[in-house]
Amino acid sequence: MTLKTEKSYRFLLIADVHIDLENGGKNIYFIHAEKNLARALEIAKQRGCSFIVNAGDTVTNASGAKEEWECYRQIIEESGYTGQIFEAMGNHETRWAKYGGCSIEDCQREFIKYTRLQDKPIVRTEGKTYYSYVDRNFGDAFVFLALENGVSTNEIDNFSDEQMDWAKEQIERYTREGRRVFLIQHAPIIGFGVGDDVNHPAYQGSIRLTDQNGKAFCNNQRFYKLVRRYKNMIWLSGHTHVDLRDEVNYSNDGGRACHMIHIPSTAGTTRLAYDEKGERVLDRTFFEDASQGYLVDVFEDRAVFKGISFYDGQTYPQYTYAIYR
Ligand SMILES: [Fe+2]
Ligand SMILES: [Fe+2]
Repeated sequence: MTLKTEKSYRFLLIADVHIDLENGGKNIYFIHAEKNLARALEIAKQRGCSFIVNAGDTVTNASGAKEEWECYRQIIEESGYTGQIFEAMGNHETRWAKYGGCSIEDCQREFIKYTRLQDKPIVRTEGKTYYSYVDRNFGDAFVFLALENGVSTNEIDNFSDEQMDWAKEQIERYTREGRRVFLIQHAPIIGFGVGDDVNHPAYQGSIRLTDQNGKAFCNNQRFYKLVRRYKNMIWLSGHTHVDLRDEVNYSNDGGRACHMIHIPSTAGTTRLAYDEKGERVLDRTFFEDASQGYLVDVFEDRAVFKGISFYDGQTYPQYTYAIYR
C-alpha cells in the first residue's frame, strides 16, 4: 500500500515580540523578549516552517526604536533561520512619535527599512507600510494592514482612506479569484471578536468604532465592515497579549463575521483576571515560560492553527483550531 501525503505548507505565527531597549537597556519592561524571539525562531527551523507571520509590535519604542530594530535583525541573523518573515505594523512601531521623539513618518520609514519590505516578494505601493503576499502553494493571499496613524489605538481613526480603499480592493479581488485570504491586522476591536472578554473587556487599548462623543471613526468602521462581510477570511490579530489558557483565541461572532484568531505575545503573555471590585483587568506578571503563538498547517481544504509554547516547543491539542474553506 502506498500512502499518499496530503499537500500542505506550514508557517509560524507570532505577535508582540516587543524587543525592548528603553534608555539604551536601562529600563526594560519586556524582560524575556529577546530570548523568546530566539526560541520561536529555533522552533521555526526545527519544525520546517516555510515562513513566519509576525502580527506586529515587534519593537517597544518607548525611547526610539533604531537599536531595537537592529537587535531584532541580529537575533534573526544569529538564529540561522533563513526563511521569510512578514511583519505587520503594530501600534508600538510608532510609539516614540507620541512623545515627540520623531514623526510618525520617521517610524514608518524605520519599519519599512528594518523589515526589509523592499526585498520581499510582495505587492506594495511605494512608501506604504501595508502590503500583500501570495503564497505559491495554493495561491493563498496574505493581506498585511498597518496601524499607520499612531500609537493611541483606542483614541483615533487608525487607518487612512487610502489604506482602506486598498484593503477593500485587495480583499475583494482575492476573494473573487477564489483564494483563501489571511488578513493580518494587529489590534482587535473592543467588545468584539478575540483577544479579550467581549462582554467585559479587560484591555481598554483596542480599536474603537466611535470617539467618546459617539462620532464615528469612519475607517475603523470600514475595517469592521470588511471583517463582517468576508466571512471566509481569516483575521489574525495580537495586541492584548492574552494567553491561550484564557480561551479567547477563536471567534467568528456566531457566524456574523470572518474567522478571527488571536495570537498571544511572544515576549510574555498577559492573563485575564478580576480585581478586588470584581472588574475585569489584565494581569501583566511575566513568566518566562509563558511565550506563545501558533504553528499553522495549511491544506487545500483547511488551515489548522496549533497553539504552541515557544518556551518548550510543545503544541497544545486543546488550543488547536481547524478552519475549513
Ligand atoms: Fe503589544
Ligand atoms: Fe499593540
